[in-house]
Amino acid sequence: MRAMQYQQVGGPNQIVAVEVPVPRPAATQLLVKLAASSVNPVDWKLRQSQSLFYRPVTFPSIPGADLAGEVVEVGGRVTGFKPGDRIFAMAKVGTGAASAEYAVVDEQAAAPAPANLPLAETAAIPLAGLTALQSLRDLGGIAANQRVLIVGAAGGVGHFAVQIAKSYGAHVTAVCSGRHAELVRGLGADDVIDYTQRSEFAGEQPYDLVFDMIVRTPLRDFLAVMAPAGVYVSTLPSFSRVSAALLLPLVSRRRVRITMVKAHSSDLDQLRALCESGKLRPVIDKTFPLSELAAAHAYSQQGRAGGKILVTIGA
Ligand SMILES: NC(=O)c1ccc[n+]([C@@H]2O[C@H](COP(=O)([O-])OP(=O)(O)OC[C@H]3O[C@@H](n4cnc5c(N)ncnc54)[C@H](OP(=O)(O)O)[C@@H]3O)[C@@H](O)[C@H]2O)c1
Repeated sequence: MRAMQYQQVGGPNQIVAVEVPVPRPAATQLLVKLAASSVNPVDWKLRQSQSLFYRPVTFPSIPGADLAGEVVEVGGRVTGFKPGDRIFAMAKVGTGAASAEYAVVDEQAAAPAPANLPLAETAAIPLAGLTALQSLRDLGGIAANQRVLIVGAAGGVGHFAVQIAKSYGAHVTAVCSGRHAELVRGLGADDVIDYTQRSEFAGEQPYDLVFDMIVRTPLRDFLAVMAPAGVYVSTLPSFSRVSAALLLPLVSRRRVRITMVKAHSSDLDQLRALCESGKLRPVIDKTFPLSELAAAHAYSQQGRAGGKILVTIGA
């Protein structure tokens, strides 16, 4: 099968096309013929050996965790899927190998793809959508009528977070650059702060929940605009955030939490339900064919995407 692979730490130009054998599914895995994958920053952070959460990859490495496609074979202990099923899934970060014509994925990391979207587009959802859902729901304890500040609201995770927060009935203030203001308003944001024009985030009332994917603003600036029992959730484990997660409970009712996304089919089911009820949709900023994965990584590394970067494979 065709795959994109790199042999050593380095820039996007390390990624080259190769022919490799089709992987074999283990007892609890599905073998999937991919319609598409999508790029997440962790893909290129691992290639550059920069990820703080995950072990360095072993070489050669086929990047990619997000996938959507058709099941072609199931392992002996798989009970929930059969060949022909159309699924979306989050394969293992670092070893998921989703930049290929076929990939294997654990049954518990897959779910039926949303029926109201083209199958390829659903590959944009898993990692970023799960991150947004788990951050807001599990770490943030989001609830109706809360005031939520989303920093990085136009990106892969952020644009899902805006929609998910609205689906819970929250009031959303989105932080992004002016060129993405219309995009986030179109996804339901109530207020938009253009960080290129304004560097303080105070709203009319304090925020119950701050979800920060950028982690460039000092934590004290967020704590200053949060409710007394507010929660700050970050996707990046910076020293200041990890220290505050441990020490803040000693002196305050405010909490700092760090996300580590997990692949759960029940959460993918929740994302599918949101899509099928019209409350969630992936915004695709750019689409690249598999052969141009290096260009897709380079584009992601610029950090300016509005929504997701899709990689089409068999679509
Ligand atoms: N811990 C975990 O489990 C986990 C899971 C997923 C992602 N992450 C991490 O979370 C981060 C975000 O991921 P992603 O997929 O959303 O990345 P992404 O799609 O590359 O995010 C790009 C977005 O960031 C925005 N941006 C850049 N600078 C900004 C600023 N100062 N203020 C507000 N927005 C800004 C850009 O908007 P403008 O062009 O409008 O500025 C762009 O829309 C990455 O570092 C990723 O590695 C962690």
